[in-house]
Amino acid sequence: MSLIIESLNHQIIDGNKTRNLLSNIDLSVSQGECVALMGDSGSGKTTLLNLIAGLEPIQQGSIKVADLQLGQATEKALSELRKKQIGIIFQQYNLLSSLSVRDNIEFSARLAGRYDPLICNKLVNQLDIFSLLDHYPATLSGGEMQRVAIARALCAQPHLLLADEPTGNLDEHNGACVVTLLVELAKRQNTALLLVTHSVNVAQKMDKIYHLAKGKLSLVKGAF
Ligand SMILES: Nc1ncnc2c1ncn2[C@@H]1O[C@H](COP(=O)(O)OP(=O)(O)OP(=O)(O)O)[C@@H](O)[C@H]1O
Ligand SMILES: [Mg+2]
Repeated sequence: MSLIIESLNHQIIDGNKTRNLLSNIDLSVSQGECVALMGDSGSGKTTLLNLIAGLEPIQQGSIKVADLQLGQATEKALSELRKKQIGIIFQQYNLLSSLSVRDNIEFSARLAGRYDPLICNKLVNQLDIFSLLDHYPATLSGGEMQRVAIARALCAQPHLLLADEPTGNLDEHNGACVVTLLVELAKRQNTALLLVTHSVNVAQKMDKIYHLAKGKLSLVKGAF
């Protein structure tokens, strides 16, 4: 199992009171499995991805990624995990502005120790970003940045891929192509994919669909 979440609770400070953003969440994603996470804006989807990536401290419950218990891991172990095992496609892309598109894509793969020019070139062609390789992020459109962020994450062949609305800035056609590609690569690379989306069409392409509302996670499609 790539990801196991058990009895996870997470509170946030909302004005002068605390709010239970995540209540008693259980979720497991195995290698090669593609899972969609849906829910209204503000329901806590990005927060859940940040917790899984070890970017926010766990308050209560447990998250295990690739056999590492995040709550008990050192900062160094968490940083190694992010480098080597977890790919993240952030909602805001987080491309490195001082690096060209080519270097952005290669950087993560090299950090993970898995840079393979054949895999990178193939992804660049599949995502149709070859002509952008020598450009810098600031000169790209939102959809172009999104495709570069996807290439960067996939190039490192992560164990677990967290994608936060990866098609949010793409038109219907490009969005559908990108999701098909994500699913195909997750299956081929045996990567667990957890993908946040507001699109029912995108979610339908996943093996399972979960819905987050009022802190509770429920399965709406897939094996019970
Ligand atoms: N560090 C924080 N401190 C306090 N509140 C926070 C913090 N981070 C997020 N929140 C709040 O937690 C709630 C959930 O935010 P989150 O970004 O996880 O939502 P989301 O489901 O990803 O929404 P969207 O679909 O709009 O991206 C929001 O009400 C947000 O204002
Ligand atoms: Mg979000």
